[in-house]
Amino acid sequence: MADIVDTRTDAAAALERACEALSRGVPVAIPTETVYGLAADATDPLAITRIYEMKGRPRFNPLICHMADLAMAEKHAVFDPLSRALAQAFWPGPLTLIVPIRPESAIHPLARAGLDTVGIRVPAGFASRLLTAFGRPLAAPSANTSGRISPTTARHVADDFGDRLELVLDGGPAAVGLESTILKVEGDAIRLLRPGGLDVSEIERVTGRRVQRNEKAGAAIEAPGMLASHYAPVAPVRLDASDVKPGEVLIRFGGAPLPGEDAAALVLDLSPAGNLAEAAANLFGYMKRADATGAGSIAFSPIPETGLGEAINDRLQRAAAPRG
Ligand code: TXA
Ligand code: MG
Repeated sequence: MADIVDTRTDAAAALERACEALSRGVPVAIPTETVYGLAADATDPLAITRIYEMKGRPRFNPLICHMADLAMAEKHAVFDPLSRALAQAFWPGPLTLIVPIRPESAIHPLARAGLDTVGIRVPAGFASRLLTAFGRPLAAPSANTSGRISPTTARHVADDFGDRLELVLDGGPAAVGLESTILKVEGDAIRLLRPGGLDVSEIERVTGRRVQRNEKAGAAIEAPGMLASHYAPVAPVRLDASDVKPGEVLIRFGGAPLPGEDAAALVLDLSPAGNLAEAAANLFGYMKRADATGAGSIAFSPIPETGLGEAINDRLQRAAAPRG
């Protein structure tokens, strides 16, 4: 089993051990406000190869590079005025920007899957202290094996990777609970490549511009990680349920009971008060709890499509998609 070091009680030891392992090219699981990341030195090709191998991730799927701040990010990539304004408004936070790589950047092409752009995020909390201490960008996908649910606790990560991981930093449950929102600026347009933990309506309010969603079928492949079946629990998922079948797990929203609950294997409510941020923070952990019952099916009651509901429904649709 991986060593788990608590960043809240042992911050100095966590920083020291993480920097030491990262310098040896060993991936380390780290807490971020969105989900836990599997981090490695973005300039070290061997370390990046280890990430792809540990996750079982296809090499055509680029990694997000995490930076301590915008100044560090600008050393590696070119920020047009609109991308810079987005960074200034929302970093540190659950936002990833796709920007052109600088030719002189030390970020290894393997981390970008050979693309001439790079996904950059400045995370909040302990991750930013680690980035400052380490001094180089950290490539970090979500710390789960490919195709599975992203981890929102250190325990999820340790259970998934077992002995294949040396060190997990435990920062407690992820505050946001959904992966970052991914945007790409193209001329005057802000394009949404992945809905996530930063609410699109908040981006529109702050910038005074509309964010463009992908209309074309299959266009989401532009963020190559956005394959249809993803974020999947083991059990099949049934969406928009208005009742629960005997032996099913029900994950509902908003506090109202559904017919059939007495015969359910387990009933969980993402947010009895109907709060979408609370629902987002609980989503992945509840999917894992549902799986742990061994139930044959997981039913979800409808979630509103407003605010963070857009990203929650995106993950639910992927969880319910036919498995590849
Ligand atoms: O919240 C998050 O974003 C978490 C934490 C750890 O930061 N990370 C995360 O990474 O979700 P990952 O690898 O699971 O998802 C990264 C997504 C993928 O869909 C990938 O295709 C896309 O970002 N991506 C990365 N670089 C890209 C690029 N240059 N162009 C287009 N998409 C890119
Ligand atoms: Mg992921």
